[in-house]
Amino acid sequence: MDLKESLKQQAAYRAADYVESGMVLGLGTGSTTKFAIERIAKLFKSGRLKNIVGVPSSHQTEKLAHALGIPLTTLNDHPEIELTIDGADEVDSDLNLIKGGGGALLREKILAQASRRNIIIVDESKLSSQLGIQWALPVEVIPFARQTAENFLKFLGASVTLRSNVDASPFRTDQNNLILDADFGAIPDPQKLAFQLSGRAGIVEHGLFLGLASEVIVAGEDGIRLLKRNNPHE
Ligand code: A5P
Repeated sequence: MDLKESLKQQAAYRAADYVESGMVLGLGTGSTTKFAIERIAKLFKSGRLKNIVGVPSSHQTEKLAHALGIPLTTLNDHPEIELTIDGADEVDSDLNLIKGGGGALLREKILAQASRRNIIIVDESKLSSQLGIQWALPVEVIPFARQTAENFLKFLGASVTLRSNVDASPFRTDQNNLILDADFGAIPDPQKLAFQLSGRAGIVEHGLFLGLASEVIVAGEDGIRLLKRNNPHE
């Protein structure tokens, strides 16, 4: 395992320490969360965690969690989540995030908003002085609105790429929508941009997760840090 993978694993394992028996868990998506799901499954199998149930944020996570034996449920059956563990693509000093690198942003945001606590797990390369510097903003659009949404994002100042699969076919989300990766460069006012994007019909959701992270576990070469709203990037 290379260093980056090892850091992701360390952050994920630390997050799994917050899981308690009886919890309804939101299960995020991505290569970092995968380590957390594996760890939770191990703790469940060993009997250290009992009566947990997970709501997966994607088909990918559902498949993984099911294969590892984590009992699953739906958000409709358990609309209040106690703890969600998820990754992020970029984290600023206010613990605002860009998410959606894996295309699961819509369900991830639904879970985050339905969760009492959201623990975000990252390696230190995801920390950023300003959102947008490191990652283009994923924007989920319905296919009918693709071109007009692209024009709108360009009007707002982004250069836009339609996300595609390795075979060059358009990437489809779990809702069968498309993703436009909107590169704004540094985003000076994420709240304003989020408001503009949310007001546009055809845009289903965007990857700005503002004010949703309760804490961020950051694994770096010098160890693991827990960032809370009152001690950002300490
Ligand atoms: C999935 O859509 C994303 O929001 C992921 O949570 C995010 O891209 C982090 O993924 P990695 O842990 O694979 O970097």
